[in-house]
Amino acid sequence: MNVQIDHNLEEIRRFRPSPEFAAGAIAKPDLYTDAAADRVGFWGEQARDLLHWHTPFTKTLDWSNPPFATWFEDGELNVAYNCLDRHVLAGNGERIAIHWEGEPGDSRDITYAQLTAEVKKAANLLTSLGVSAGDRVAIYLPMIPEAVVSMLAVARIGAIHSVVFGGFSPDSLHSRIVDAEAKLVITSDGGYRKGRPFPLKETVDAALEKSETTVEHVLVVKRTGEDVAWTEGRDLWWDDEIALVDADHEAKAFPAEQPLFILYTSGTTGKPKGILHTSGGYLTQTAFTHRNVFDLHPETDVYWCTADVGWITGHSYVVYGPLTNGATQVLYEGTPDTPIPGRWWQIIEKYRVSILYTAPTAIRSFMKMGRQIPQQFDLRSLRLLGSVGEPINPEAWIWYRHVIGGGSIPVVDTWWQTETGAIMISALPGITDLKPGSAQVAIPGVSIDILSDDGEPVTGTDGGLLVVTEPWPSMLRGIWGDPERFTETYWEKFGDKYFAGDGARRDTDGDIWLLGRVDDVMNVSGHRLSTAEIESSLVAHDLTAEAAVVGAADETTGQAVVAFVILKERQQGVMTNEEASELLRTHVSKQIGAIARPRQVFIVPELPKTRSGKIMRRLLRDLAEGREIGDTTTLAETSVMTSIMEQVR
Ligand code: WTA
Repeated sequence: MNVQIDHNLEEIRRFRPSPEFAAGAIAKPDLYTDAAADRVGFWGEQARDLLHWHTPFTKTLDWSNPPFATWFEDGELNVAYNCLDRHVLAGNGERIAIHWEGEPGDSRDITYAQLTAEVKKAANLLTSLGVSAGDRVAIYLPMIPEAVVSMLAVARIGAIHSVVFGGFSPDSLHSRIVDAEAKLVITSDGGYRKGRPFPLKETVDAALEKSETTVEHVLVVKRTGEDVAWTEGRDLWWDDEIALVDADHEAKAFPAEQPLFILYTSGTTGKPKGILHTSGGYLTQTAFTHRNVFDLHPETDVYWCTADVGWITGHSYVVYGPLTNGATQVLYEGTPDTPIPGRWWQIIEKYRVSILYTAPTAIRSFMKMGRQIPQQFDLRSLRLLGSVGEPINPEAWIWYRHVIGGGSIPVVDTWWQTETGAIMISALPGITDLKPGSAQVAIPGVSIDILSDDGEPVTGTDGGLLVVTEPWPSMLRGIWGDPERFTETYWEKFGDKYFAGDGARRDTDGDIWLLGRVDDVMNVSGHRLSTAEIESSLVAHDLTAEAAVVGAADETTGQAVVAFVILKERQQGVMTNEEASELLRTHVSKQIGAIARPRQVFIVPELPKTRSGKIMRRLLRDLAEGREIGDTTTLAETSVMTSIMEQVR
């Protein structure tokens, strides 16, 4: 277990909800009492309250065959209908669903009626291209309205989307397309980032060249107008095709357990896992948490979650949660500091954003830039702030609350994962006394515990392993095509308790503090990366004989990728270590994607190994973080660290 404790465990600041906030808050304390009295019944009630069911369910949870759960099994619904049509039918068609802001400054306001109309046409288009219920569609798009339209159109016809983040390489995209056996890819000519157009269609072309695939068509949205290569018969322009289809489309009901999407995430091995989510339970918990954790008042709030739809946060809190709840939200295409350093704050001022949900890594970069930047903008519309992706250190929490939030509004730190589908641990604003740096308490209806390595509940304030002890509606239903890996990864360790892979402890009030991953998964800027995946990429390069990767603490990105590489004998002396290191950094970035680019690659003569040949990453982490090297007595060769240190320092 490599739990790192890098924050202030003596945190004693508490922030009471203001009486005015508490009085108007959506969440009421009886949520906790109701859920405690009858957890399963509580979720049944939420599912009925928050969603429209074409066929009401009579069974709530089936946990007779753990770890395979079903929720609301005999109920039927249409996910897109819940996100769109019913708001229009209820008379809210003129409400803005999306204030879209392109990076170059172009913008579009889209009402619920307009979004519904676009999704209906897109659903007809997918059907005309031969996509039917259960088929997989890969979506590789920038943050433009068509990304949301595509996801909802796929959901509307009961097909399954696999959204791939636009920063991933041809290799990464290819392996995801192949694993899911996608029939269709939806992409664009490109998007805008950091003031420049970047290509996407080109990456799709390169991915599809790697091998024969199941892809029949590539549907291309025009965004940048840059030139693209074209494969006749396979490639189709979105606009041309949409113009040909019917405007009307009736949303058919699908079973609650109809698969909704696959989202790939990094695990402890080199191969990303396709996390599978289904419809009814997922939608219930995303809608419930979006409403209660963010205190959403859909008639008056303007909500903004800054995550890309390529990550789970974008799925649950840009697309499904907010739209199910009929929220008005901002969708922004670009980078936070383009073309001006205060771009985000300018957007908040422009749309009078009242709820902001973002990641600690962003907050820390803004802290570095200084408060004079946000202070140039009117941020008084904000009334609630959220954080997700990694532990937020108390100093960043306080800065967020004061500099961005004006000093008195709630900040909620939300813990969850791609696998959990929706928020699991968070304060509820208006109820919970807030404590900077702690994710605090399980949401109503979710059961969390902290166990020792041998499965005993940890009492007191010692650290242990975070588990979910009871099934929850938005839980993953499996790993695409790999039921064994699903069981092995999450359920083998503690039987029918879900093992999250995070370390945690409770403080004397019982509040939960997350302590980081306990496996070989890194968290860089809130993105999950696997040490094994980056190691295999390094070893695949002709320069490399052996490689070891660690996540080292980093002031801005939380963790940073640091690699230690032994060159092949025949490569030694061919170029300088600096050149080799630069070459390898670029190689990883090309092979996996820019987010995986190592901060440093150290060329070393040896790696520290135990007598059984296992690399001792703990020692490399000490080195990468500039700490005193820990216990080296289990090393096969104790002099190794000295020779590595000579190279590194
Ligand atoms: C980490 C992102 C501490 C954690 C939603 C988890 C957090 C992994 C928090 C999941 C938080 C996420 N405090 N750690 N509030 N939120 N994490 O799948 O290690 O991209 O296991 O989902 O991020 O990352 P994922």
